[in-house]
Amino acid sequence: MSTQKALYLLEAKGRLAVGDAPIYNPGAGELLVKLYATALNPVDWKFIEQDVFVQFLSSYPAVVGSDGAGEVVEIGEGVTGFEKGDKVFFQGGYEPKYGTFQQYTLADAGATAKIPEGISYDQASTFPVALTAAYLGLYKGLGLAPLTAAGRGIGAYANTPLVIIGGSSNVGQFALQLAQASGFSPIITTASLKHTEFLKSLGATHIIDRKIPLSSLPSEVAKITDKSILHVLDAISLSDTQQASYDLLSHGGKLTIVLHKTLTQKEGDGKEVVHIVGVRNHPGHRELLVDGYKHWPEWVKTGLLRPSQVEVVSNGLAGIPDGLKRLQNDQVSGVKLVAHPFDPIA
Ligand SMILES: NC(=O)c1ccc[n+]([C@@H]2O[C@H](COP(=O)([O-])OP(=O)(O)OC[C@H]3O[C@@H](n4cnc5c(N)ncnc54)[C@H](OP(=O)(O)O)[C@@H]3O)[C@@H](O)[C@H]2O)c1
Repeated sequence: MSTQKALYLLEAKGRLAVGDAPIYNPGAGELLVKLYATALNPVDWKFIEQDVFVQFLSSYPAVVGSDGAGEVVEIGEGVTGFEKGDKVFFQGGYEPKYGTFQQYTLADAGATAKIPEGISYDQASTFPVALTAAYLGLYKGLGLAPLTAAGRGIGAYANTPLVIIGGSSNVGQFALQLAQASGFSPIITTASLKHTEFLKSLGATHIIDRKIPLSSLPSEVAKITDKSILHVLDAISLSDTQQASYDLLSHGGKLTIVLHKTLTQKEGDGKEVVHIVGVRNHPGHRELLVDGYKHWPEWVKTGLLRPSQVEVVSNGLAGIPDGLKRLQNDQVSGVKLVAHPFDPIA
């Protein structure tokens, strides 16, 4: 059996180390992809540190990593629309054969997209996880008309305010771009003010300094719009941002959160909170995501969606643990960390 290099999580809450791994055969509906870029996500360090995520990994050594971009090298039974040599991006999964912190992995062809011309593997690897969360957050969590719904989604929410907490996070950046295409106005976001021009280029109309006390968020938003706030997406979803997002919402409004719910809801206040789990096979997500994956390359080509800015970590797979520490310590601002699985290890 041919082997490859993988970054293993050796045991629950244990150490990450590079080792040999098998190259898996694609099953029905799957592709084998040679990975040239894998992006790092907060969930990757949470799989090592936080019980609520650790429970998703059922066996060790595990291979985590969920953002992949590379070249199709084998095609499983029943797959149509892909050929060997296609450049693709896709979201990985929690079993070793689907993790992206390795050199070859299996991808679900239904939730894989071809990389448009002019987009590098690094840039393409920034899409899957964060775009999935933003996409589901808006079109599932907030129940908006998808951009793909013929004649309904594009520009459908003119003169409707939307608040996105954490616009400079990768989830926030994609949410801003999608919200702009959905026509929301104003699009208000919280972020460090150094990102103001960048976030405006993605669709934000107003940036509120994320360092202000969250208790003053309602008054800051009221300076921008006197309309009811019926849509909020909290792309950060820490306990304080969840509660502030919920408190900001008007009667009848909806809030999407991207982490487990910690906020306190008041009974009978007519507000709805939806926790989005941005996993391709999560019940009720697949249809929307398969539809999304069909359209995303075209939206990248037309400029509706731009990839995140990238910082490549050094030392290939062995550079990932340091990158995850930086994410955990809140030392990454406005960019996506990306690793190259084939880069030599010092
Ligand atoms: N449910 C899902 O499927 C799903 C999917 C992806 C991510 N997530 C979760 O979503 C969150 C964001 O993920 P990500 O990959 O987008 O993160 P990220 O890009 O690594 O987030 C870093 C950014 O967060 C911003 N930030 C940190 N604390 C903030 C706060 N209190 N208010 C406003 N902005 C703040 C920082 O902003 P400044 O630079 O402006 O200071 C920084 O740019 C994470 O908790 C992640 O686990 C969930």
